[in-house]
Amino acid sequence: MSIKLQAVRGMHDLLPEVTPLWRKVESILAESLKNCGYQEIRLPIVEKTELFKRSIGEVTDIVEKEMYTFEDRTGLSLTLRPEGTAGCVRAVIEQGLLRNQVHRLWYQGPMFRHERPQKGRYRQFHQLGVEAFGLPGPDVDAELILLSRRWFRQLGVEGKLKLQLNCLGTLAERRAYREDLVAYFSNFEQALDEDSRRRLKTNPLRILDSKNPSMQDLIKGAPKLLDYLGEDSRAHFQGLCALLETAGVSYIINPRLVRGLDYYCLTVFEWATPELGAQGTVCAGGRYDTLVEQLGGQPTPAVGFALGMERLLALLADSPLARTIEPPHLYLIRVGARAELVGLLLAEWLRDRLPGLHLIVHCGGGSFKSQFKKADKSGAWYALILGEDEAAQGVVSLKALRESEQQQTLSPEQLVEFLKQRFSI
Ligand code: HAM
Repeated sequence: MSIKLQAVRGMHDLLPEVTPLWRKVESILAESLKNCGYQEIRLPIVEKTELFKRSIGEVTDIVEKEMYTFEDRTGLSLTLRPEGTAGCVRAVIEQGLLRNQVHRLWYQGPMFRHERPQKGRYRQFHQLGVEAFGLPGPDVDAELILLSRRWFRQLGVEGKLKLQLNCLGTLAERRAYREDLVAYFSNFEQALDEDSRRRLKTNPLRILDSKNPSMQDLIKGAPKLLDYLGEDSRAHFQGLCALLETAGVSYIINPRLVRGLDYYCLTVFEWATPELGAQGTVCAGGRYDTLVEQLGGQPTPAVGFALGMERLLALLADSPLARTIEPPHLYLIRVGARAELVGLLLAEWLRDRLPGLHLIVHCGGGSFKSQFKKADKSGAWYALILGEDEAAQGVVSLKALRESEQQQTLSPEQLVEFLKQRFSI
């Protein structure tokens, strides 16, 4: 017996019953991005491993434990991208897009992380990422947050999501904070869980992110990064908060929000929902003013975020948007050799005249009865019937499948007029 082939754990097929909603959401977001001056960039799925090590950080969970890394046939170490920012920065440097210019970019596609799969957490998942280069002020941070709010509003899920904000300061400010944080947690080393003890040596800020209940009191008493911010960082953060307040965005300042990627500075933010359990962060990002330089480009401030598409779509599963998937206008039934031929030409003729027409042509033969069953199952509004008689007379019969309307016999020209009126196409 042959072994049944299955998809890789944590990597999912998106079946036809969900793809229409995905497309609809993607097109709403793409349209909104275009209208706000963001341009699409398409990036490789595979990059050199070094890129992710140098950008996301050697001692992050992503780089240490979650990357799909392999050697190609020449022995070069490559990695399936775990996120999109690193590749986007690599591309803008390599293609010479920066040179003191402003660029507003977006991308979408699959990302790969070898995490423990659970609801809302996959090994292949999809992000839509947005990055703005060349703008140092809090105005563009606010622009990105407002852009994401606009989407949530448009999709009807704004009420389900809460915005959390934090300011990570500059590298120097974080260094001073890190020293005090290490000193603080070192005093309680016995009380630290295993993960936190490891992080104390590698990435102590991530201890603040711990979800372990036994760590919470200790974390509450830890020094706060916001107390270590210099004047400029404070002004940036206050500037952003003021803009958000003016625009009526409510937010919570979460001093423990540190994010799992090393490239951030100043603003970080997350939109999360309680509706998706532990994997409730739908959209997250922040500023990364030193990354371009760190990867070999000229110093360029930058800020961005990425939206987790699976999580957003999970929030939309029972929304009105999911119920507005449009059924086909017509299902063409053809019985008899001549009718099959005439039907094929008629379908082409109709499609030339009505580019918005949603028409399914029955293929594979069969009786009127069996073809009607298929027409009904397709959800189409009308069955278009072509038998030998109709084919000989150059007409078609039109039968409503969803409402009680009289069956009509029409010439192709009359049919076009009818469809134009009926469906506004
Ligand atoms: P991130 O927080 O690692 O940030 O991921 C962004 C979003 O991707 C998460 O909030 C979540 O919705 C989704 N996501 C992440 N991992 C998974 C997973 N295993 N399964 C399902 N969804 C997931 C970044 O990736 C940054 N590049 C964002 C950014 C852009 N920062 C600046 N520019």
